[in-house]
Amino acid sequence: MATSLSNRMSSVQTAVIPRIAELIRQNPDTVSLGQGVVFYPPPPESLASINAFGSTPTDHHYQSANGLPEFIDALSIKLETENSIKINESHTIMVTAGSNMAFYYCLLAIADPGNEIIISTPYYFNHEMAISMANCNAVLVPTNKEYQLDIDALEAAITCQTRAIVTVSPNNPTGAVYPGQALKQVNELCRQKSIYHISDEAYEHFTFDDAKHVSPGSFTQSNQHTISLFSFSKSYGLASWRIGYLVAPSHMRSALEKAQDTVLICPSVISQYAAIGALRAGPSYCYSHIKTLEESRNICLQYLNNLGNRVSTPKTSGAFYILSKIDTDLTAIQIVEKLINKHHVAAIPGEAFGLHNDCFIRIAYGALSKDILKNGMDRLVRGIETIIS
Ligand SMILES: Cc1ncc(COP(=O)(O)O)c(C=O)c1O
Repeated sequence: MATSLSNRMSSVQTAVIPRIAELIRQNPDTVSLGQGVVFYPPPPESLASINAFGSTPTDHHYQSANGLPEFIDALSIKLETENSIKINESHTIMVTAGSNMAFYYCLLAIADPGNEIIISTPYYFNHEMAISMANCNAVLVPTNKEYQLDIDALEAAITCQTRAIVTVSPNNPTGAVYPGQALKQVNELCRQKSIYHISDEAYEHFTFDDAKHVSPGSFTQSNQHTISLFSFSKSYGLASWRIGYLVAPSHMRSALEKAQDTVLICPSVISQYAAIGALRAGPSYCYSHIKTLEESRNICLQYLNNLGNRVSTPKTSGAFYILSKIDTDLTAIQIVEKLINKHHVAAIPGEAFGLHNDCFIRIAYGALSKDILKNGMDRLVRGIETIIS
């Protein structure tokens, strides 16, 4: 008999992406509409910046647990100019190996086993998994038909066990961007109830049309209960460098430092150099690619339109995802397996995002050139037509 595993990990949902990746491996000419990354490389400033790394022996030693002082300084300027978060002694900034790690550290810092963390559905699967890994309970609150927050339902979900409400804007998997007013209501609710507002802003630079990204950490009276998570993975194309950061109330510093010291010791220094270079390039680098992404979104919506009313897709205004609902009795996993095996196109099934009652698929368009995207969407639309007819 095999030596047993922890109940903790057995109760964590199986990651869907590796399963889809395996199906894609078995069908090598598959166009993947599954990948949550951008098509463009890091800015030249990032690559130039890493040239300054490595010439002295200390470059290769452990360094500051929270992040290089010059990087933290550059982040403080970025937070003030781009996010209107004016950093002072009431805040702490910590650099992490990506914002997923930052999210997990925050859970460890603010929640005990059995506590509840409120997330809206559809959720970002790694949030739900992290909550489970921290032996906490994810309390799921559905968004409305336009994938916008239901503030009354969020309030009704708060119990004496609740430690935080999580918002993700712009959103993975829906592409929704929450208006500043809605985020303010959530933030104020959290303040009144003495719980945290964890704001995942991994897609902060990706908004279209009239949508504007708003950081809850910029609201007045937010600094004692707001945790903001940021990433270099998407905006600056630095996903493999594993670099992100958090801004949290300063009373969390010691707890966060214990987590960092135990897990990572210090963030990768060369990755911090790459990120310092990215900040030198600045947000105009990210914005220079937004028009292309917006055109890609429009291409996807046009193709999906051809499916008529058996597929409904609210117009999205951010990130690089579209979440479509398909009118069928099949599960999304069944649809996606058929799409990959028979039509050689991959999307992510809604089950990964906590959608079990109806059939949803997530289409990610950030990684693909227009030609490949059109080819993939053509396969997807024909595939869905065949499967549901
Ligand atoms: C909402 C959200 N947060 C965080 C992440 C992960 O970011 P990082 O690479 O910084 O860990 C992702 C990646 O897809 C995401 O969609």
